[in-house]
Amino acid sequence: MDQERPGTGITTQGITTYSAGNFAAEVRAGLSREGQKELPSKYFYDEIGSALFDVISLLPEYGLTRADERLLRRHSREIVSKIPSPVTVAELGSGSGKKTRWILEALCARQSTTYYPIEISPSALARCELELARMDCVSVIGFEKEYLDGLLEVASRRAEGERLLLLFLGSTIGNFDAKAGLEFLTSVREVMLPGDALLLGTDLEKPIFQIIAAYDDSLGVTAAFNLNLLARINRELEGDFQLSRFRHQVRYDAQERRIEMHLRSTVKQTVTMRRADLAVTLEMDETIWTESSYKYTLEQVVSMADATRFRCVSQWVDQEWPFAQNLLIAQ
Ligand code: AVI
Repeated sequence: MDQERPGTGITTQGITTYSAGNFAAEVRAGLSREGQKELPSKYFYDEIGSALFDVISLLPEYGLTRADERLLRRHSREIVSKIPSPVTVAELGSGSGKKTRWILEALCARQSTTYYPIEISPSALARCELELARMDCVSVIGFEKEYLDGLLEVASRRAEGERLLLLFLGSTIGNFDAKAGLEFLTSVREVMLPGDALLLGTDLEKPIFQIIAAYDDSLGVTAAFNLNLLARINRELEGDFQLSRFRHQVRYDAQERRIEMHLRSTVKQTVTMRRADLAVTLEMDETIWTESSYKYTLEQVVSMADATRFRCVSQWVDQEWPFAQNLLIAQ
């Protein structure tokens, strides 16, 4: 069923695939596993987590989002010039939509455009829709869905001869582990047609001290973002995590080129989550691994494209914060 968001005239299609049942099942699986306990990073982004992420994007230590936006601001016209008309735009994880505006404005110079943001966070989707609502040449149709489900919906609506420009910005690909990232790009490619384009944002390697500071900022916003995952479990799954008994911890794995975020238990403790039907004991100093963020080389992105039936035709690199926009064409 299509639903109109009150007062906006913008439609959100389909039903959400988020449910307390999925959340409970994934929390249960991650916290009851042998060895390293884990929680999926996609659950960071409830209303509070999305707002905290917006603040992270403003922090002096975290240059990633600004680099992403700078590249789009400077090169959108050149990027869209490489894709023939007519083109429809979809975006995986649109966030607030602020960065996407540059691409849509560049496209508006030559055509009116339908833009499909695909988001599991209803609050981020609502903000994105509002941010872009006033662009006359753009029709926004949001999907509150997981990425691949949303992309399948977009594919089912495309008109004959229409190209798809899919945006996957902000180095969200880096939150997948290496194997899952390749599998994901392969699945995305299967939904696309030869000649379609994927604009992939990737954070690049940089000095380790800079990466650590980006994920362990001096104001403690990233720590709050990380701890909010436990607070969300308390709110939604009737958990009894005491946040003061956990510390935000980051680790850089140089071999894997990834920064990891963990939540370290400062005492031995047992936590219960009634709606997940779960009780978990954590040892003192045991951690819950909540996120990985991989950093790439330009060559690695080219190889990832080759391995997933794309061809990387252009790369734009920010001069202030090593970050690349990579234009991949489906083969
Ligand atoms: C969304 N994603 C690319 C961010 C990142 O840098 O991996 C999430 C984030 N985690 C901590 N700070 C920001």
